[in-house]
Amino acid sequence: MNKKIKKILNKKNKSKIVCLTAYSKNIAEILDKHCDLVLVGDSLGSVLYNYKSTKEVTLQTMINHSKSVRLGVNKSLMVFDMPYNTYRNPQEALKNAKLVIKETKCDAVKLEGGKKIIPIVKKLVKNKIPVMGHVGILPQTDKKFTFKGKKQQESDRILNDTKLLENAGAFSIVLECIETKLSKKITHNLSIPTIGIGSSANCDGQVLVIDDLIGLSKSKFKFVKKYIDISKIIENAVKRYKSEVIKKRFPTKKHSFNT
Ligand code: KIV
Repeated sequence: MNKKIKKILNKKNKSKIVCLTAYSKNIAEILDKHCDLVLVGDSLGSVLYNYKSTKEVTLQTMINHSKSVRLGVNKSLMVFDMPYNTYRNPQEALKNAKLVIKETKCDAVKLEGGKKIIPIVKKLVKNKIPVMGHVGILPQTDKKFTFKGKKQQESDRILNDTKLLENAGAFSIVLECIETKLSKKITHNLSIPTIGIGSSANCDGQVLVIDDLIGLSKSKFKFVKKYIDISKIIENAVKRYKSEVIKKRFPTKKHSFNT
């Protein structure tokens, strides 16, 4: 088994797993120093491209961003989020996942879904492609983005899906916006780690979209904590630059080539 995946698995019931998304090298380099897992999420569709849905994200766009992220990720596990319509059946999933691994050198792929995708997960795992699951809100296919686990039937289905994913060979599962008691039950019921986003502190690890955490995006999700408003810092630097250019204070001799 891949050493980095082993490391993630070994953290279950010992220490929390720290995960963030990255879409390019410079950010990835910073995250790599502090994260166990860096996810190239298809959330880049809304965060970077203003798409209404992640359905619009193409495999090629994901590959391009992942190639950049790969340059910055060295010690963390790098996970590629398979976009919508690239894993409709086991054959299509295997063909695309093989291409993704060849092109991006990622360590694993992430797929959204439960029972329906079990044959796909099994096919990839059988072909030695590590798979991360994703249940709860499924941005690629859900129409409503409300938290999951309000009704007993829904809770039972999600709990069952997570066990099926574990049995199919997934090494970890993202729980997106799952009710607190249900995320606890799922996490206790599995021997693989759960990674929560909007699913309480009961999960084995946490993931957030980096742009939300640093204040580069305009997102106002309840589960996001903004640790810094980096857009204000960038804006201040740009204002100072503008002022110095206009007042001819930049560039100085120091920034020029003199004979
Ligand atoms: O696309 C993404 O960034 C994700 C995470 C939010 C889990 O799937």
